[in-house]
Amino acid sequence: MTSILKLIEDRRSVRKYQDKPVEPEKINALLEAARMAPSACNAQPWEYVVFTDKEAKNKFCETVFTGIYSSTKFAAAAPVIIAVISNKGNWSSRVGNIVCQTSFYLIDQGISTGYLTLAAQEQGLGTCYIGWFDHKKAAKFLNLGNGQKVELLLSAGYPAESPAPRPRKTAREVIFHNKYKQ
Ligand SMILES: Cc1cc2nc3c(=O)[nH]c(=O)nc-3n(C[C@H](O)[C@H](O)[C@H](O)COP(=O)(O)O)c2cc1C
Repeated sequence: MTSILKLIEDRRSVRKYQDKPVEPEKINALLEAARMAPSACNAQPWEYVVFTDKEAKNKFCETVFTGIYSSTKFAAAAPVIIAVISNKGNWSSRVGNIVCQTSFYLIDQGISTGYLTLAAQEQGLGTCYIGWFDHKKAAKFLNLGNGQKVELLLSAGYPAESPAPRPRKTAREVIFHNKYKQ
């Protein structure tokens, strides 16, 4: 098993995929990682819709990657598209949002999808977060109810490219010890 630090170091956003289906047990492994993530008040404010059937996936992609969102059409060629549905959490996490003036459910989504992408890396799969899509049309397509939203999409599949690492801010710029700046 690869160490978690190596998986983090090697992960890239992959936008080109081999035309090869992903084994269901591998997809399951990603979703299990996502499901096991921690969340504020253990609200687990997420649901995942996994598109692997070509017809269903194409219908969804044709709906959400149109107009100003056409630039993300590349994702439609991925063998797997995962729609991340959020709700606003349970009673206590919602109280937490108000008292702390934050959005715990969005933090939760980030952790859960982060686990998912690292589990994918471990399975030899590439992923890409997709935030640039028609959120309203996605919600309508999935018949979402009040308070539900498709927060993110993820594409996944066997990589057909090896992207170079994108630059990161230096540790000096973002890490402070024992006091903040000055
Ligand atoms: C919340 C979120 C939304 C993103 N949305 C998109 C997107 O719509 N299209 C895209 O090509 N990449 C998208 N990305 C990928 C980022 O561009 C990418 O993570 C960043 O450039 C760093 O590159 P790396 O993932 O290869 O390290 C998104 C990433 C995150 C975390």
